[in-house]
Order: sequence, then C-alpha cells, then structure tokens
Amino acid sequence: FWPNSPPAKFPPKTRSNHGLPAAASVNAKAPDLPGAFHLNRRDPAAYFAETIFALNIWTIARPAVESHVQHRSVQDSNPQLLAVSEPSYLTAALRKAGALVSKCLDALTDIVKPGVPTSEIDEFVRKFAFDHGAYPATLMYRGYRHSTCTSINHVVCHGMPDDKPLREGDIVNIDVTYILDGWHGDSSRMYPVGQIKRAAERLMEVTYECLMRGITAVRPGARTGAIGEAIQTYAEAERCTVVRDFCGHGLGRVFHDRPNILHYGEPGEGTVLEPGMLFTIEPMINLGKPHVKILADGWTAVTRDRELSAQFEHAVGVTETGCEIFTVSPAGYHFPPYDIRAAA
Ligand code: MF3
Ligand code: CO
Ligand code: CO
Repeated sequence: FWPNSPPAKFPPKTRSNHGLPAAASVNAKAPDLPGAFHLNRRDPAAYFAETIFALNIWTIARPAVESHVQHRSVQDSNPQLLAVSEPSYLTAALRKAGALVSKCLDALTDIVKPGVPTSEIDEFVRKFAFDHGAYPATLMYRGYRHSTCTSINHVVCHGMPDDKPLREGDIVNIDVTYILDGWHGDSSRMYPVGQIKRAAERLMEVTYECLMRGITAVRPGARTGAIGEAIQTYAEAERCTVVRDFCGHGLGRVFHDRPNILHYGEPGEGTVLEPGMLFTIEPMINLGKPHVKILADGWTAVTRDRELSAQFEHAVGVTETGCEIFTVSPAGYHFPPYDIRAAA
C-alpha cells in the first residue's frame, strides 16, 4: 500500500560513509538500549513513585511478552529469522496493533501545539492505550518509564517526555509502540510546532521520502541492505546524513527482534527477505553530520553537532509480492502539514 504518490526524483550515485564503518562490517549490531535507572532516596515522594514504577504496579500491568527472547542482541547474519507459520493470523494481529498506534498518532495532531509539555503528550498516549485495551510497550521497558518518546529538534531518538513546553518552531518526533493482544505496533511521525523554518520542513520531507523509498525496496528475495541503500542514496543526494547508531528491527510478539534493519548500506548486504517477515523501518536523518551522543540520562540521543534530526517509522510485513504497511494513518495524516495533506 502506497499512501502517497511514488517518488519522482532519482538521486545521484555518490554516497559517503563520513568516516564511519560500512554496514557490512558493522553487520547489524542490535541497538544497545541502555536501561539503568536509579531510585531517588533523597526525595521520599519521588522514592515512592519510583518504587511503584520499579515494582511495576501500574494501572494495567505490563503484559508478559516473550521476555525470554526480548532483550537478546542478534546477529543479522543469523539465518534463523522470525519464522511465520500462520501468516493470516499474524497479519490480523499486527494490523490491529498497528492501526491503534496510527489512530493515536492521528489524534496527537491536534494536541501538539506551542506551550504543551511533552509530559502531556505522554499522558495522552498512555491513556489512549489503556482506553483501547493496549499497553505502551516502552513503559517499564529496560527501565524506561514513559509511554512514548518525544524527540525535539536535535534529539535523534529516545527523547524523554518532561514538563518543558513545546516552543513555536520546534519539530518533534513522537514514537508510539503499543502491545495489543500480545502483538506490537510501532510507528512514529514528525510534528511541526506552530510555524517552522523551511530547513526543518525540508528535513521532514526528505526523511519521510527516505522511509517510503525504504519501504518500496521491501520484497521477497531482496536483502535488508536494499532498504538501507534506498534510504542512504536519497538522503545523501538531498545533502542530509543517515544516523548509523540506531536501526529498524523485527517486531511481533517481541518489541526488538531480528532482523536489524540498517538505514544505510548496499543491496547485497543483510538478510534475504521472505514473505511473513515483520519489521520496522525508521530512518533518522540529520541536516548536519550523522554522529550522535547519548546524554547523561542514559536515553536521550542527540546530534553531536546539535543540528536538526528527523525520523519517521512504519511497521511493515513482507508479502508474496512486496510489502504491507501496518501503520498507515487512517485519517490520511501521512506527513506534515497534516491538515493540507488530509484535505487533498
Ligand atoms: N519505539 C522505539 C523504536 O522505534 C523504541 C523506544 S524504546 C524506549 O524502536 F525504551 F526508548 F522507549
Ligand atoms: Co518506534
Ligand atoms: Co521501532
């Protein structure tokens, strides 16, 4: 399914590695998500709240989802891929989880405004999940204690919601993952906050186009490297760069599973795609250099040069003929400006 018209421009062949290792030599190190968190013993109220979190006593308990395989890191070269034995059942489950995430992302369109703190967005995402019988997969995931990631401006990913209000001119990625009936839906979009600069708008356009070009590379027999190549080629032709430190991932009953989906590389690299494979594509594209660093909180990833970064994410499945997107916006809010696109 292709929500918008297919790409028109063809990028040049020159691509660079910015002094970083080639995808083949990295060969899909799983994203190493740091998870340590510390109890605050000086503030009794915070200590109580954090203990509640630590004991996982929440409105709805976090569902057990294949925890024995959830956090292993996986070599992309391992041929033992997520084997889909019951495709129709799987597809139905993934469609349901994906559709709920997309519905939530649609609803956020009216909520993201100057002055709104990201904690309010987080609260909305959590309530929306519970109201629909779902659970936010990031809540209590490896010590993460929010229902969404809100990555503003130079934040590449895993931005933590807080009480700071969004400001006119910000661009923010909101990343929602829900567990519904034991299956994961994972998607993210960029949201402009009020009027934004043209450079920010262009970065969002390039990033969305990168995601959609990556998706068109998905078909049985192709390798995951073809997805990365499609993304990298376009991003660099548009004078943007591809973040190497985070990748897309298999998902289903497990949040972060095989295969790793690198957003750069060559068509001959990576895993051969087969019908039934389920994974995300979630390119993080920068206006400046591709390099990132993780802040002291152990989560927030920012660009080293503090230039803008953007990301869009879809959950997809390989079909006999190509691929299915599980997280298409029901309202037609594919990329900003959402009001204009939806009306068109
Ligand atoms: N939703 C993110 C992804 O696309 C993962 C967030 S994990 C968290 O894979 F713990 F940082 F929330
Ligand atoms: Co996500
Ligand atoms: Co993801």
